[in-house]
Amino acid sequence: MFESKAGVFLIAGLGFFALAFLVMAVLPWAIYAGEPELTVEQVAASGIVPEFVDLAERYPEQFKRAFGTVSTQTFAEALRFGHEVYVADACWHCHSQFVRPVSNEDLRWGPVSTALEYQNALQRPVLFGTRRVGPDLIREGGRRSNDWHVAHFWQPTNVVPTSVMPPYRWFFDEQGYPNKRGMSIITYVQWLGSWVKEYPYYHGEGPPSLPMAATTQSSVAHAGAGSTGGGPP
Ligand code: HEC
Repeated sequence: MFESKAGVFLIAGLGFFALAFLVMAVLPWAIYAGEPELTVEQVAASGIVPEFVDLAERYPEQFKRAFGTVSTQTFAEALRFGHEVYVADACWHCHSQFVRPVSNEDLRWGPVSTALEYQNALQRPVLFGTRRVGPDLIREGGRRSNDWHVAHFWQPTNVVPTSVMPPYRWFFDEQGYPNKRGMSIITYVQWLGSWVKEYPYYHGEGPPSLPMAATTQSSVAHAGAGSTGGGPP
């Protein structure tokens, strides 16, 4: 077998496959098998993201109706519902949630994902995603303001003119304020990656090259429902 090059390549191929399986599947499993899977309540108890409090301040009436007050319980409720919306509205069809250790992905999105980050109920079903029509979202938390997300879910092209993301008008009430669904999905995306404290853009302005300059006052949904840039779909 070793007389031919093909034989050497076959053995090497199988060897590298076995090595990759060992390093990427068996090893993480061996390290983390004993780690308990966190419930949503346990995740929420590790810290309420500031954007959840910001929603309560920005939309006091809507927030009161949807959640009551800011607490670990209501934060857990928002995370759980936001996660359900993410699954139900098929955000995963266009967005991944996994920074891979290739192609300098960490320069674009932040630290490479680690196995333990996914050991919680909000990652069931697994939402790694297989398609990236839009950017990876596992480091989205704190990257944008709540205002940005409100404008973006109302009409993505108002903030990113070239966007192919559809508008999500059912995240808003008749007056154009985010409803429970809208506030929950925003809480959920603001939570994604919030545990990675060294993330460079966390609660910052984001990299200057991002198309944030395209944001205009009139694109904010609640600054006059119906009269916003995009109009009804
Ligand atoms: C048809 C594909 C598609 C679907 C479905 C979709 N998106 Fe997007 N999304 C995009 C694209 C493309 C972008 C990049 C352009 C932009 O910002 O709009 C994007 C951008 C985003 C961003 C901004 C990321 C950043 O910081 O630049 C967020 C947050 C987001 N999407 C969340 C969601 C959520 C939550 C859902 C489900 C309710 C969803 N998307 C559904 C395609 C999609």
